[in-house]
Amino acid sequence: MNVFITGATSGIGLAAANVFAQKGYDVILTGRNEVKLEKVKMEITEKYPVKVFTYILDVTNKENISSVVAACVKEIGTPDVLINNAGLARGLSSYDQNDEADISEMIETNIKGVFFLTRAFLPYFVKRNSGHIVNMGSTAGLYAYAGAAIYCATKAAVKTFSDGLRIDLMESDIKVTTIQPGIVETPFSETRFHGDKKRAAAVYEGIDALQAGDIAEAIFFAVNQPKRVQISDMVIMANQQGTGFLVSKKK
Ligand SMILES: NC(=O)c1ccc[n+]([C@@H]2O[C@H](COP(=O)([O-])OP(=O)(O)OC[C@H]3O[C@@H](n4cnc5c(N)ncnc54)[C@H](OP(=O)(O)O)[C@@H]3O)[C@@H](O)[C@H]2O)c1
Repeated sequence: MNVFITGATSGIGLAAANVFAQKGYDVILTGRNEVKLEKVKMEITEKYPVKVFTYILDVTNKENISSVVAACVKEIGTPDVLINNAGLARGLSSYDQNDEADISEMIETNIKGVFFLTRAFLPYFVKRNSGHIVNMGSTAGLYAYAGAAIYCATKAAVKTFSDGLRIDLMESDIKVTTIQPGIVETPFSETRFHGDKKRAAAVYEGIDALQAGDIAEAIFFAVNQPKRVQISDMVIMANQQGTGFLVSKKK
């Protein structure tokens, strides 16, 4: 079995690469940064006796998607599992103050990246009548929060897209799952605040936040169910999270 992961160089994608490799899956790691990707490949190869493949993939680049999907199918075959993990938030401010470049980047990455990579792989999944597509949503897609209208909307789009896809694939053996994590301590906040480490660290202060490995284990669980079982959604919150936007911080 093998798994194709986008954004495998950091956070949840990196943790998923480790969990799946540890449990015997060959891993197809993709990311934008060749140096980071090779480092992850080396680390996983040293730890686990599985095959590790890498492709440079920016999910906002449709030509890059086409060439990577073609190369993967030719060199490795159709993946058993596709994890559409790459994604990001940019900024945390009222929509009237949102930066247009940030808005575009979130839409291009979180929505169009997921839509077009899935579209590129899907005919192969359909031809083989098997495979599992795991899309990374968020509690933000279920419960909007202040300053994040676009990020929340992109994750709502991921959830609705997954639901529609599941209906289209109902007669096939292909499964579709949306993973919807709450607050996970990863470099996500540093990216959101354009590299402001102090502001990013403050997000997780006073909270026993979810860790990337928790989400990776949840993905593995969803993927490794009997053929008859299709987990449509997994909503995973930190213990101190009441709902998507309501978190109790210890003083
Ligand atoms: N952390 C949370 O609280 C949380 C909660 C719910 C959902 N999520 C979702 O979980 C997913 C993973 O986030 P994370 O928390 O693990 O954050 P992260 O550590 O910042 O990881 C994000 C990954 O996405 C990659 N990426 C960003 N833009 C890309 C692009 N255009 N093409 C290819 N890869 C790209 C990044 O690669 P680079 O290293 O090249 O930037 C990085 O590997 C995202 O979809 C996020 O929205 C996160």
